[in-house]
Amino acid sequence: MSTLVKQLEETSAYIRQFCKTVPSVGIVLGSGLGNFTSEMKVECEISYGDIPHFPVSTVEGHQGKMIFGEMGGKKVVAMAGRFHFYEGYSPQQVIYPVRVMKMLGVDTVLISNAAGGINQNFAVGDLMIIKDHISFFAINPLLGKNEDDLGPRFPDMSEPYTSALISKARTIAERLQIPVHTGVYTGVTGPTFETRAEYKLIKVLGGDAVGMSTVQEVIAAVHCGMQVFAMSVITDIGIREEENRITHEEVLQAAKDAEPKLTSIFTHLIREL
Ligand code: HPA
Repeated sequence: MSTLVKQLEETSAYIRQFCKTVPSVGIVLGSGLGNFTSEMKVECEISYGDIPHFPVSTVEGHQGKMIFGEMGGKKVVAMAGRFHFYEGYSPQQVIYPVRVMKMLGVDTVLISNAAGGINQNFAVGDLMIIKDHISFFAINPLLGKNEDDLGPRFPDMSEPYTSALISKARTIAERLQIPVHTGVYTGVTGPTFETRAEYKLIKVLGGDAVGMSTVQEVIAAVHCGMQVFAMSVITDIGIREEENRITHEEVLQAAKDAEPKLTSIFTHLIREL
């Protein structure tokens, strides 16, 4: 057994010892989107700092804990706070929690993030269901020796975001009268927001939104055979010609304001899985 698989087993064994919930759905919460867990019937919480082999979250707006419980009749685990490459974590550390979720029994992962709008039809506070992604200098977390116990050397990426979940979410959004876009997320390393020229380049490349997370987690989830659904909250419009400074504070605020819409769609989607 590889060192990594041994560590994943130690991590999961530790978690299982504290928490009897066996989750089938995993949720990764983005910047300013941590309140989602108030909709859960919480059964158990574990701080990242207490979990063996787990990195520790440092960014403002993240709580840094795994929260287990029930939602919409499903057993779920939510990660309030994720690990970003820009914080100095290795790509393997960034995806560690996704792999732990898999070890704990999760087969479907729902991911949220705050993202900059590239598509000129987007406005701050809009939601975008991610139908595909472009990795724009985000380092592939599967580089190096393949972990054959987890997944294949060359994972297919023709449908990283499960189309059945996208259709279901679109139907739910329509029913709830929540407008949603569907588009391509471009994953960058950050921590700088993009230059004007970069926002324009991402548009030319075919990106509708841009953010500093998600891509590596999705690659890990696809690698180990999970179904994936992901949604962005558009927190700023980078591509504007006019004066256009972007701050972390405005990103957090916009995410917080849009959170109820995202929570509603996630909650209904979980119920209907
Ligand atoms: N660019 C990159 N990441 C982001 C942005 C952005 O404009 N907004 C929120 N996360």
